[in-house]
Amino acid sequence: MSAPIDPTATSAWSELTSHKDGFAPDLREWFETDPGRVDRFSFGLGDLHVDLSKNLVTDDILASLVRLAEQTGVAERYAAMLAGEHINTTEDRAVLHTALRRPAGATPALVVDGQNIDDDVQEVLGRIDAFAEGVRSGEWKGVTGKKVTHIVNIGIGGSDLGPVMIYEALKPYADAGIEARFVSNIDPTDMAQKTADLDPETTLFIVASKTFTTLETLTNARLARDWLWAELSKRGSIGDDEASRTDAVAHHFIAVSTALDKVEAFGIDPKNAFGFWDWVGGRYSVDSAIGTSLAIALGPDVFRELLAGFHTVDEHVRTQPLAENVPVLMGLLNVWYSTFLGAQSHAVLPYAQQLHRFAAYLQQLTMESNGKSVRWDGTPVTTDTGEVFWGEPGTNGQHAFYQLIHQGTRLIPADFIAFANPAYPLADGGRDVHALFLANFLAQTKALAFGKTAEEVEAEGTTGALVAARTFAGNRPTTSIFAPALTPNVLGQLIALYEHITFTQGVIWGINSFDQWGVELGKQLAQQIAPAIEGDAEATATQDASTQALLAYYHSHRTN
Ligand code: F6P
Repeated sequence: MSAPIDPTATSAWSELTSHKDGFAPDLREWFETDPGRVDRFSFGLGDLHVDLSKNLVTDDILASLVRLAEQTGVAERYAAMLAGEHINTTEDRAVLHTALRRPAGATPALVVDGQNIDDDVQEVLGRIDAFAEGVRSGEWKGVTGKKVTHIVNIGIGGSDLGPVMIYEALKPYADAGIEARFVSNIDPTDMAQKTADLDPETTLFIVASKTFTTLETLTNARLARDWLWAELSKRGSIGDDEASRTDAVAHHFIAVSTALDKVEAFGIDPKNAFGFWDWVGGRYSVDSAIGTSLAIALGPDVFRELLAGFHTVDEHVRTQPLAENVPVLMGLLNVWYSTFLGAQSHAVLPYAQQLHRFAAYLQQLTMESNGKSVRWDGTPVTTDTGEVFWGEPGTNGQHAFYQLIHQGTRLIPADFIAFANPAYPLADGGRDVHALFLANFLAQTKALAFGKTAEEVEAEGTTGALVAARTFAGNRPTTSIFAPALTPNVLGQLIALYEHITFTQGVIWGINSFDQWGVELGKQLAQQIAPAIEGDAEATATQDASTQALLAYYHSHRTN
């Protein structure tokens, strides 16, 4: 694997540093004097219309950013990823989530490390389709012969955030009378509340874990199994003997994992398990068997459409020149803001209530991928990396944190995502509510870009100290992503867009975006501290003073 290219040593970096020195963006002026700006800075990406014109870049800056992508080898590294090179260096793995959405029969076949990846993917997809159809039609039955009405996905991180985000986004497509729920947190509240009103006879649990070792997921899976046995036996639906319990698990538990031996050890029949591969990172896995809950609740056709959307964007990235490559351009803009202009965070603001978990999903995708201080060869990074991604759907965010974006002292680039057509076209006294909603999206991006001058404030009759308070500086950068409707295909496109934005930034910074060693220390320490919180004096004595004091507080306040 070639060494990362230090971006700060490139000529493009020097150009960008010169652009930054004394940089005084003026979107009002740029829009007034340049009638072609919007056209030049607007792009089509599948069904997405992406308007970059309200970003703080000139043509010269964008050209330098594109040169930065060229000089740091973004296209070459993407090609290496698609070809199955082991670009995940610290785990010595290929990175092939893009293979999960290649259409059946794609040519030439993708063969990596001697394995026909396309065949493997299609085989599992076919099994998922058949299983999902069986559950949806009622052919698959619970232990007492009833059709499944509820599925509960038990997973965390990439084995939860993608499925729950997509389920929430595409709920209008749930047409088989099956409700999906998602349990992730090891806080027992999560399991208790999500199962409280469930009927064990009609509930199917999906234990989703790439490694099948994750503490939260395995603990919750055992809680779910205990709940199932207890509730079924309370009703007299099963006996308390081993065979009855095994039979109950066989009818009410399936698993999704790369570790099928561990699935079997848990007691789930391997024929009720769906595999995937170590070349799929957890946060890139919603389009693998990790999406089984979606195939059941929304249907296999919806799941396939989602995959088709991902593939559209993969193809765009593969075939478009860097200067017209939308995910690359958006990744470059993020580098411009975070590394050159000092932005520490990035807001993602969907004008779609259905995307209310989108920011949470993106947090893992972006921050677990690029929150790193070393490069893929183990040397320190040469720039700041990894912004904080956050957001809430509009218009809720407008009444909460937009104040800071409009008038605060920090630069917060924001992506606005909107859809021309609503899932639920409601009217308020004859007025189309979705149109009103979209007026807010347009108004916010306009206000952020162009602000309101002191003269304009005064012209409205405001005087004195209030003038400054009511002035908006403008030049707050936004990207507008508009699509006809939030369909499965469009959602796939959106997710893939952000995957490739993340990848672009990672390459420029020299980061391996596909490992996550930063989550390990806390996991290890939790295992060490668990005996101390359970009262083991020896384990307590080895803790630092603060942890010991917190343990003492716990022991003196725990009452139940
Ligand atoms: O938080 C670390 C992590 O490894 C994530 O990358 C992953 O998505 C999550 O835990 C869950 O892991 P698994 O699917 O193996 O249970």
